[in-house]
Amino acid sequence: MRDTSAFINSLGQVCAIIGAQWGDEGKGKATDIVAQHFDVIARACGGANAGHTIVVAGHKHVFHLLPSGCLHGDKKVILGSGMVVHLPTLLEEIALLRSLDVDIVPRLTISHEAHIVFGFHRTLDAALEERRSKQKGKGIGTTKRGIGPAYMDKTARCGIRMGELHTDLRNELIQRKTLLEETYGVAMDVEEELSDLADAREQIGGCIGDTVEDIHSALHSGKTILVEGAQGTLLDIDHGTYPYVTSSSTTASGALQGLGLPPRALTSCIGVAKAYCTRVGEGEFPTEAEDSAAKRLRERGGEFGATTGRPRRCGWLSLPDLRRAAYLNGITHWNLTKLDVLDEEDVIPVGITRGEQGMRYQEFPGWKTSTAGITGYDSLPANARAYIEWIEEQTQSPVALIGTGQGREEIIVRS
Ligand code: GDP
Ligand code: IMO
Ligand code: MG
Repeated sequence: MRDTSAFINSLGQVCAIIGAQWGDEGKGKATDIVAQHFDVIARACGGANAGHTIVVAGHKHVFHLLPSGCLHGDKKVILGSGMVVHLPTLLEEIALLRSLDVDIVPRLTISHEAHIVFGFHRTLDAALEERRSKQKGKGIGTTKRGIGPAYMDKTARCGIRMGELHTDLRNELIQRKTLLEETYGVAMDVEEELSDLADAREQIGGCIGDTVEDIHSALHSGKTILVEGAQGTLLDIDHGTYPYVTSSSTTASGALQGLGLPPRALTSCIGVAKAYCTRVGEGEFPTEAEDSAAKRLRERGGEFGATTGRPRRCGWLSLPDLRRAAYLNGITHWNLTKLDVLDEEDVIPVGITRGEQGMRYQEFPGWKTSTAGITGYDSLPANARAYIEWIEEQTQSPVALIGTGQGREEIIVRS
């Protein structure tokens, strides 16, 4: 067994794992690995637009609402106030875990302040996408999980929160139905929504609580807290590539806000970035690769959405974006993932400056040898080490974790 204690100690009491690109960087795998050393694991923002994959003993698990570390049997699990929760998806995830003999319910707390994503939010998400496509020729390419409409209701101060699960919402939903039909021409099935609410009330009604109190009492008693970010920095509603972003704050600050933690509580932030770059959906992607290279990366990296199955657009690292992610989030450690996907590349371009003529690139020589499954830094080929050390130098943050495969064990931990 490798000694990772120096790395784990360097994370301190509260660590956030944050995507540095456009999502799908490999936050799930990082969370799963680090979670075994933490007491509380939390999701803070976003909803089931997230798809976090972990591979344990050859079996793939995809988490959408629950944090990826919850296969570790003894952890307290929190879904924070900043989240938007689609209840049938949550019940499905709970049932899936139960089929693996993991009963999450007794150790799960869902914030009474988190908002409920209803079926009608999903229908509206799809309708708004269609409208954008018709009007502008393209939509945002959302996951159609109802995220935008749920946050629209939240900021318009007419959202329905988890704390209201125990109340009778029939009249409220009937009014919504009229509003939806009149404003957007979108249909809604009130009985189906009520039935989803009843199922959730029965199965997880007892999990709803004041997660702010819970997390602060954990903090006071010296417990360690791991926050799993969702989406990525470039999808942040404020700092991302607006309007091609999600509707929540995806940065470390957003994660803290979503859990009711003060900024000074955070002791470390692991920025997760692929050794290249991908994006699902529409929007700018200055380092997007030309077709043949994109196809190669997509095939080698299995770049298909964990939530929607859509092929991901593929390209190269962008240094300006990494730097920006480092200072926006206060990244203390990088987890560079999917190094093994670059194993067969002759040259690896990295976008280094954005000028009027577009992105300027620096090219790194490939290593043309397998790094799959390597767990020791010194066993990496020299060109791969040079690539990693250049990233460290340019971003002024150490690369502490390096992914060399999908599996839990396929990682280099440097200390
Ligand atoms: P997340 O949304 O950030 O958790 O990332 P996703 O799960 O959506 O996508 C990351 C994909 O890359 C998943 O299929 C992971 O199993 C896979 N993955 C993560 N780290 C590595 C790695 O180091 N090497 C390879 N080959 N695959 C990885
Ligand atoms: P994880 O947590 C990658 C993208 C969508 C779309 C935009 C808005 O797995 O990294 P939304 O449904 O949120 O309104 O879609 O954001 N998007 C993601 N892309 N990974 C994600 O999550 C994403 N969540 C949203 O593709 O471009
Ligand atoms: Mg994902």
